[in-house]
Amino acid sequence: MDAIGYRRLITKARFAFARSQRWRIATILLIVLCTFSNDSSGQRRRSRARPPAPKTSIDYSKFFHTTSEHRQTCDACHKGPTENWKKVRGFPDLADYPDHEACVGCHRTQFFRGARPEICTVCHTKVSPRDDERFLFRKRDAERQFSIEFPHDKHQDVIALFRRWERAETGLLQRVSLVLPPSDKQKSYNNCTICHSTMEKVPKVPVSGWVDNFVPTADTFKSSPLGHEACFNCHWKAQEPINSDCAGCHKLATKPFLVNAAPERISVKFRHQREQHIAECTTCHIQITKAASLRGLKPDVPITSCTECHNKDGLRLDVTNELEALDKNRNFACTYCHTSDKGRLDAPASHYLIAGREPVKRKDLK
Ligand code: HEC
Ligand code: HEC
Ligand code: HEC
Ligand code: HEC
Ligand code: HEC
Ligand code: HEC
Ligand code: HEC
Ligand code: HEC
Ligand code: HEC
Repeated sequence: MDAIGYRRLITKARFAFARSQRWRIATILLIVLCTFSNDSSGQRRRSRARPPAPKTSIDYSKFFHTTSEHRQTCDACHKGPTENWKKVRGFPDLADYPDHEACVGCHRTQFFRGARPEICTVCHTKVSPRDDERFLFRKRDAERQFSIEFPHDKHQDVIALFRRWERAETGLLQRVSLVLPPSDKQKSYNNCTICHSTMEKVPKVPVSGWVDNFVPTADTFKSSPLGHEACFNCHWKAQEPINSDCAGCHKLATKPFLVNAAPERISVKFRHQREQHIAECTTCHIQITKAASLRGLKPDVPITSCTECHNKDGLRLDVTNELEALDKNRNFACTYCHTSDKGRLDAPASHYLIAGREPVKRKDLK
C-alpha cells in the first residue's frame, strides 16, 4: 500500500468512527428522551421505563418475563398445581411462586451473594435462610406483565348453554356459583355478569391523580376476571386452550400495567349502576359479542346508545347543549359525560351527527 492509499484508509476510518460516535450520541439522546416522555405521560398502562443499566447494577428485586432468558415455556418455572392449592383455592390451580429450582440453575451467583441476596425479594417478604414467608401470589399492587386473550364472540353461545347445564348438573352448579357474585345473582344479563360484576371498591387513585379531582363511585365500574375460576371449569383437560396451555390465554403485554387503577375510560362520568343505566349489556356494548379479540375494540360503546335519553327533544339535550356552549366559547370543556381531558378535545363526528349538525373544529370557531 502506498502513502496516499494508507492516508485515504485512515481518513475513511476516522469518518466511520465519527459517524458511529454521532450515532451513539443520538441513540443515548433518544433513550433519554423516551425514558423522560414515558415518565411524564400519566397513562394507566405506565411503562416501567427501565434505564439501560450497566451489567453491574441489575435490579434483582423485580422479575421480568420479557428478559430473553426468561422467555421459556411457562412450565419451565410455573409447575401446577402448586402444593398450596387446597389451602388457597377450591380447585387445582397455580397459587404460588415457582420453586428455587426454576432459578438457581442460572442465578447461583445471585442466590448465594452476601448475607441478604436481593433476588429473594422477588418472592419472599424477608430475606432469611430460615424464613419461607412469601408475598401473596400474585402481588396485588404490582404491575401485570400479561394481558388476557378472551374472544367474546366464541363464548356467546357456549356460556348460554353452560348456564342451562348449571341447572341439570350439580357439580357444575357449584363451579358457577363460585364465580357469580351474590349481588348480581338475580339478573345475569346475557351471562356477562358471570365474569363482570359491579366493582365493590373505588379503584386506586391514578398515579397522576383523578382528572378534575372527579372521584368516580365504585358502582361506576364493572370488574373483570382475576383468576382461573372464570375459565378452568371449561378449559381443563379437553377444551382448547387447556389449562396447561398458558400462552393460549396469556399474552405478554407490550408494557407492564396496573389493574387496580381505574379502567381506562372515555366517559368516566357514566355510572353503570344508575337506575336508568341498568339494562341488557349488549344494548350498549354492541360490538362485544362479535369481538374476536379485545384489541382495536374502540369505541366499544357508541354515543348512539345514549341518545334516546340524553339527546332527545322534550327530554334532555346534553350533547346539543354542550355543542352550543362550545360555539360560544371555543375553550369550553364538556364535562357532563367526560372529564376535561376528553372534554377539551374536538368533539367527534358522532356527536355532531346525533345533534343533527355539521362537524366543526375548535380552531375554526371565533
Ligand atoms: C423463568 C421463570 C418463569 C417463566 C419461564 C415464566 N414465569 Fe411467570 N412468573 C415467574 C415469577 C418469578 C413470577 C413472580 C413475579 C412477581 O411476583 O414479581 C411470575 C408471575 C407470573 C404471573 C403473575 C404476575 C403477572 O405479571 O401478571 C403470571 C400471570 C405469569 N407469571 C404467567 C406466566 C406465563 C403465561 C408464562 C409463559 C408464557 C410464564 N409466566 C413464564 C417466573 C416465570
Ligand atoms: C435460563 C437462565 C435463567 C433462568 C432459568 C432464570 N433467569 Fe433470571 N435472568 C437470567 C439472565 C441472563 C438475566 C439478565 C441479567 C443477568 O445477566 O443476570 C436474568 C435477570 C433476572 C432478574 C433481573 C430483572 C430481569 O428480569 O431482567 C431477576 C430479578 C431474575 N432474573 C430472577 C429470576 C428468578 C426469580 C428466576 C426463577 C423463577 C429466574 N430469574 C430464572 C437468566 C435466567
Ligand atoms: C421464584 C420465587 C422464589 C425466590 C426467588 C426465592 N424463593 Fe425461597 N421459596 C420459594 C417457594 C415457592 C418456596 C416453597 C418451597 C416448597 O414449599 O416446596 C420457598 C421456600 C424457601 C424456604 C423454606 C425451606 C425450603 O428450602 O423449602 C427458605 C428458607 C427460602 N425459601 C429462602 C429463600 C432465600 C434465602 C432466597 C434468596 C436467596 C429465596 N428463598 C428465593 C420461592 C422463592
Ligand atoms: C367467561 C368470562 C367472560 C364473559 C362471560 C364475558 N366476558 Fe367480557 N371480558 C372477559 C375477560 C377475561 C376480559 C379481558 C379483561 C382483561 O383484559 O383483563 C373481558 C373484557 C371485556 C371488556 C373490555 C374491558 C376493558 O377494560 O377494556 C368489555 C367491555 C366486556 N368484556 C364486556 C362483556 C360483555 C358485555 C359480556 C356479555 C355479552 C361479556 N363481556 C362476557 C371475560 C368475560
Ligand atoms: C347504558 C349503556 C351501558 C350498559 C347497559 C352497560 N354498559 Fe358497560 N359500559 C358502558 C360505557 C359507556 C362504558 C365506558 C366506555 C368508555 O368510556 O370507554 C362501559 C364500560 C364497561 C366495562 C369496562 C370497565 C369499566 O367499567 O369501565 C365493562 C367490563 C362493562 N362495561 C361491562 C358491562 C356489563 C357486564 C354490562 C351488563 C351487566 C354493561 N356493561 C352494561 C355502557 C354500558
Ligand atoms: C362455558 C364454558 C367456557 C368458559 C367458562 C370459558 N370458555 Fe373459552 N371456550 C369455550 C369453548 C366451548 C370454546 C371453543 C369455541 C369455538 O371454537 O367456537 C372456547 C374458546 C376459547 C378460546 C379460543 C381458542 C381458539 O382456538 O381460538 C380462548 C382463547 C378462550 N376460550 C379463553 C377463555 C378464557 C380466558 C376464559 C375465562 C375468562 C374462558 N375461555 C372461559 C368454553 C368456555
Ligand atoms: C383458559 C385461559 C387460561 C389458561 C389456559 C391459563 N390462564 Fe392464567 N389466567 C387466566 C385469566 C382469565 C386470569 C385472570 C386475569 C389476569 O390475570 O389477567 C389468569 C390469572 C393467572 C395468574 C394469576 C393468578 C392469581 O390468582 O392471581 C397466574 C399466575 C396465571 N394465570 C398463570 C398461568 C399459567 C402459568 C398458565 C399455564 C400453566 C395459565 N395461567 C393458564 C386465564 C388462563
Ligand atoms: C351523553 C354523553 C356525552 C356527552 C354530553 C359528550 N360526549 Fe363525548 N363521548 C361520549 C361517548 C359515549 C363517546 C364514545 C363513542 C363515540 O366516540 O362516539 C364519546 C367520545 C368522545 C371523544 C373521543 C374520545 C376518544 O378517546 O376516542 C371525544 C374527544 C369527545 N367525546 C368529546 C366530547 C366533547 C368535546 C363534548 C361536548 C361538546 C362531548 N364529548 C359530549 C359521550 C358524550
Ligand atoms: C334509558 C335512558 C338512559 C340511557 C340509555 C342513558 N342514560 Fe345516562 N342518565 C339517564 C337519566 C334519567 C339520568 C339522570 C339525569 C338527571 O336527572 O340529571 C342519567 C344520568 C347520566 C349522567 C350523570 C351522572 C349520574 O349518574 O348522575 C351521565 C354522565 C350519563 N347519564 C351518561 C350516559 C351515557 C354516556 C350513556 C350512553 C352510554 C347514557 N347515560 C345512557 C338515562 C339514561
